[in-house]
Amino acid sequence: MSIVLSGIRSTGNLHLGNYFGALRNFVKTQDEHTCYFFIADFHSLTTHPNPKLLHDNVKNVLIEYLAAGIDPQKSTIYVQSDVPEVCELYLLLNMHAYLGELSKTVSFKEKARKQPQNVNAGLLTYPTLMAADILIHNSDYVPVGKDQEQHLELTRKYARRFNNLYGVEYFNEPDAFNFGMELIKIPGLDGSGKMGKSEGNCIYLYDDSKTIEKKVKKALTDAGPTEANQPKPECIENLFTILRVVSLPEVVEYFENKWNIAEIRYGDLKKQLAEDIIKVTSPIRERILDLQNDESYLRNVAREGAEKARESARKTIREVREIMGIKPF
Ligand code: TRP
Repeated sequence: MSIVLSGIRSTGNLHLGNYFGALRNFVKTQDEHTCYFFIADFHSLTTHPNPKLLHDNVKNVLIEYLAAGIDPQKSTIYVQSDVPEVCELYLLLNMHAYLGELSKTVSFKEKARKQPQNVNAGLLTYPTLMAADILIHNSDYVPVGKDQEQHLELTRKYARRFNNLYGVEYFNEPDAFNFGMELIKIPGLDGSGKMGKSEGNCIYLYDDSKTIEKKVKKALTDAGPTEANQPKPECIENLFTILRVVSLPEVVEYFENKWNIAEIRYGDLKKQLAEDIIKVTSPIRERILDLQNDESYLRNVAREGAEKARESARKTIREVREIMGIKPF
C-alpha cells in the first residue's frame, strides 16, 4: 500500500470534467492505497483572501467530495488549516528553498503578471507550502495534472536537498500518479476541447435536471451531415465523447449509426445525452443536498480527518526536528 496524497483547491464547484477526469478514479484508489485528501485553504489566501467566502468554499468542497464518493472510513480527508504541523514544515523547508528557483516557476510568473499589485511572499513560496503538504505524510504518489508537474518536481528537489544536506534518507521523492489508467478528458459544450470552470462551459455535479437539460440543449452543433460516413466536426465529436462516458454502449452505437447514415437528429442526441448525464449526477446532487444540512456529520468528518492527519504529521515533525537538531531541553 502506497501513500497517495491529493490536494484540492478550495474554490469552485465540481463539474463533469473533474468527475470523469479524476474523481471517479480517486474513489477506486481508496481501496488500494492509504489515501489522504485535503482541502488547500491556506493556498487560496495567496490570491483571493475573502473571509466571508473562505469557510463556505471549504465546506462546499468537503461536501462535494464526500457526495462524489470519498469515504472517510477508508481515507483521511481533512482541511489543511486544521493541521498546523504543515505550517512548521513549510517554515523549515523555506530555509532551503531559494529565491531563484521559486521566482522561476511558471505559476508564480503567471500570478505575478495577473495580480501585479499583490505579488506576496506566499505566492512566491506556494511551491514550498505544497511540498510541505506532500512531505508531511512522506507521500509516495500525488495525483496531479500537467499544470502542477513543476510543483511536484520542486517537491522532489526539496526532498532530495533535505536528504543530502542532513545526510539522511528521510523523505521520499514522490511521483505523479495517474491511477494506472488513462484519464478521460471531458470536452466543453461550446465546441472547445476542455470542460473547465474558467471556460464557463461546465455541467456541475450540483446542477439540477432542468439546468442540465438547458445546458445540453444549448450545446454547439453544426448543420448536420450531408452524406454518409463523414468525419465529425469537433463540436459533434465532443458530444459523442461525453455520450461514451455516460451512456450505454448500445445507445452510443445507435447514434453513431444515425450519424453514419446521415440521419442523425441533434435534438434526439441531446435529449438522450442530458438524460444520461442526469442519471450520473442526480444521486450525487441528492447527497450534496443531504450533506448541506448535516453540519454535525461534516464537523465529525473534519475533526476525525484532522486527528488522523495530525498523527502522521506529528511523527514527521518530530523526526525532522531531530534531524535538523531542534531539540527540547
Ligand atoms: N496546487 C494544487 C492546485 O492548484 C493544489 C495543491 C495544494 C496540491 N497542495 C497540494 C495538490 C498538494 C497536490 C498536493 O491544484
